[in-house]
Amino acid sequence: MNVKNKSVLITGGSRGLGRALALEFARAGARVALVARDIEPLRKVVAEIESQGGVAFAIKGDVGDKQAIYPMLGQASELAGPIDILINNASTLGAVPLQPLIDTDCESFEHALAVNTVGPFRLAKAVLGSMLVRGEGLVVNISSDAAVEAYPNWGIYSASKAALDHLTRVWAAELEGSGLHMISVDPGEMNTKMHADAIPDADPRTLANPQDVARRILKIVEGGSYAVRQLAARQSA
Ligand SMILES: NC(=O)c1ccc[n+]([C@@H]2O[C@H](COP(=O)([O-])OP(=O)(O)OC[C@H]3O[C@@H](n4cnc5c(N)ncnc54)[C@H](OP(=O)(O)O)[C@@H]3O)[C@@H](O)[C@H]2O)c1
Repeated sequence: MNVKNKSVLITGGSRGLGRALALEFARAGARVALVARDIEPLRKVVAEIESQGGVAFAIKGDVGDKQAIYPMLGQASELAGPIDILINNASTLGAVPLQPLIDTDCESFEHALAVNTVGPFRLAKAVLGSMLVRGEGLVVNISSDAAVEAYPNWGIYSASKAALDHLTRVWAAELEGSGLHMISVDPGEMNTKMHADAIPDADPRTLANPQDVARRILKIVEGGSYAVRQLAARQSA
């Protein structure tokens, strides 16, 4: 899909991969609506995009809050136009330092599911109706290798991403032939706050720059190779 003049909603757009995606998609001519809980860092990203001649909007919201989904989407559509591409990027690790499952509160698991799985599901449901009417649209769910590997201490994050991946496969199968697509992308390890929170002693030189990853995700979106069979709906950036 050519993203020029498209309306793109990116959750978690204030830092890390979300900020990088916002910059990349805006440079490619998309209008980007960015969501995060803290509005000030989002405004800085919007100012940075505008200084480069791009179009961006900041929207305060928590994707884990059921009541926030429609107001968030309403603002995004009003500001940037009906959403053509939704990128479910915002995510939580749960409690840090990461803990083994035996020490993990059930409430932490519920919260990780609310932010990483149910929030993206709600947003997808909310945008897909309008996309179906227009016969075109793409949802990109940002996943993780933790969705497929059983790393000790990553339990609730892993389970929430595995569920998101599988929802993506089912959505992709159900959307086949509609002109709409849903994919999940594993961005790999990146030098971001989330990574530093999870593995504080990691050497940042061994981690990808989120801007390079965002460029690869833009290529995947523009390449259209997501028009594939359901089991190929998960891709690596
Ligand atoms: N970094 C890695 O190595 C790595 C590896 C594999 C997968 N990933 C995935 O890549 C994606 C981006 O990760 P990242 O490393 O860039 O994370 P990050 O640096 O921690 O940034 C997270 C972004 O999401 C926002 N956010 C967090 N919780 C939110 C909520 N409940 N509602 C709305 N916005 C929320 C944050 O802003 P506020 O705090 O202001 O809300 C921030 O903008 C995530 O899906 C992550 O799981 C990352």
